[in-house]
Amino acid sequence: MVLLGYIIAAVLLIFAILIIIYLFLDFIAHFLGAPFVPTSQKDIDEILKEAKLKKGQVFIEPGSGDGRVVISAVKNYGVFGVGIEVHPFLLLYSKLSARFKKVSVQLKAENFFQTNYKKADVIFLFLFPRTLKKLKEKFLKECKKNTLIISHGFRIEGMEKYLIKTLERKVYNTYFYKIR
Ligand SMILES: C[S@@+](CC[C@H](N)C(=O)[O-])C[C@H]1O[C@@H](n2cnc3c(N)ncnc32)[C@H](O)[C@@H]1O
Repeated sequence: MVLLGYIIAAVLLIFAILIIIYLFLDFIAHFLGAPFVPTSQKDIDEILKEAKLKKGQVFIEPGSGDGRVVISAVKNYGVFGVGIEVHPFLLLYSKLSARFKKVSVQLKAENFFQTNYKKADVIFLFLFPRTLKKLKEKFLKECKKNTLIISHGFRIEGMEKYLIKTLERKVYNTYFYKIR
């Protein structure tokens, strides 16, 4: 009986430690770009449909979190998906999720400020406005003509002239930009 008590206490302790590590890493991600806040599956389905994705296009998701957006894009539209995530727990979860769903997707442990976006046809973002503003400089330098940049939740300051469409919702709008 005493042994069982020790085992339960040890399991709870490990669980608590893992939660603390997760929150600490999320806190770091907050400063690097944004904490983890998932896009709802309903919004993902609507956004991907509106994006009119074509088979073989390169779809990059900086800050891919649990991977549902990039995995859905690959599974439902046949794009070549790349997810970039700095939080190791989320990256592991997204890799397991892709494997479980039998979806081939490239999920990289990387800071998205170090990624090169020249091969992207479509970029999906759900990040803080200050982060979008910094990434915008890279996009305008590296992205080819006609790259579609989808920003869920927030407008990208300084990209007004590239805005082609807005999906309006009660909570988070989605903004579509096209590089010209
Ligand atoms: C708001 S969540 C969006 C998750 C996912 N894209 C979605 O829409 O469901 C932002 C994600 O970006 C990740 N992140 C923040 N800064 C990052 C950075 N500099 N490089 C890579 N990932 C980053 C966070 O860990 C978090 O998972």
